[in-house]
Amino acid sequence: MRGIEIFWLCLGIIVFIGILVYLYGYIFEVRMTRLIKYEYHDKTIKKVKETSLKEGLKIIFFSDLHLGKNLHGKQLKKKLAFILKQNADIYLFGGDLIGYRLTDYVKSTEIIDRFNDFLTVPCYKIKGNHEYKKEEHTSQETKDLYFAAMPFKPLVNEKEIIEYKDKKIAIIGLQEGQYHKPEMPKIDEDVDLKIVMIHQGDYFDTFNDVDIVLSGHTHGGQIRIPFLPPIYSPKHGKKYNRGLFIKDNKALIVSKGVGCNMFKFRFLASSDIIELKITF
Ligand SMILES: [Fe+2]
Repeated sequence: MRGIEIFWLCLGIIVFIGILVYLYGYIFEVRMTRLIKYEYHDKTIKKVKETSLKEGLKIIFFSDLHLGKNLHGKQLKKKLAFILKQNADIYLFGGDLIGYRLTDYVKSTEIIDRFNDFLTVPCYKIKGNHEYKKEEHTSQETKDLYFAAMPFKPLVNEKEIIEYKDKKIAIIGLQEGQYHKPEMPKIDEDVDLKIVMIHQGDYFDTFNDVDIVLSGHTHGGQIRIPFLPPIYSPKHGKKYNRGLFIKDNKALIVSKGVGCNMFKFRFLASSDIIELKITF
């Protein structure tokens, strides 16, 4: 085979693989949502394939919906149905409800309708950086209106005490850290478990005396190439990209989030939601 033929053959193979990767990430992986399960028992947390706990408090944490051009209509309905199907005892939302060109694709009344079905159990939400980031398509007033339309209870440097059997669990929601200062509220000493929600997981190191921290923000890198660092690595999301981290008797779980913002594409970083089953 002549050199020129080898060149065209190699180019053809590269273009073909490129098209396959693009179609896989754009059509298949971006629509997929995984359920990642964790168990907390006896002050120990671990990732599990299937929970061995017969009973327990089931928390579902989801983050980074980025409603708008890249998540609306049928796909949004499908992803929310998957979250609702998990039948949680508590739903927690970790911020970044707002996405690219939100108002062109989603009505604020639709948000109320979509999330009303969750309200049979306690539901709490915190804000992400995209609830504040300046964008030409969506004013701050509109962002505030849409965020308020999500009928979960907002926690802004606040806590909510949940009683489960004879134990007290504090659900603590902190303000996002890019435009604000997250501040831990005062927690009574008789609380048995402290769960913190903060959009950006890199604040994990600054917390003392908490048990579990739940974050999103990073999209798990969104596009991953094996053995290379994540392509999407936002401010305050550089140290802890995805998964479980344990340090100084506290644990951080970073979700890869549900949606995408500017680019509707995920590769080796599929969307996920987090199940956290708790027993004492
Ligand atoms: Fe995000």
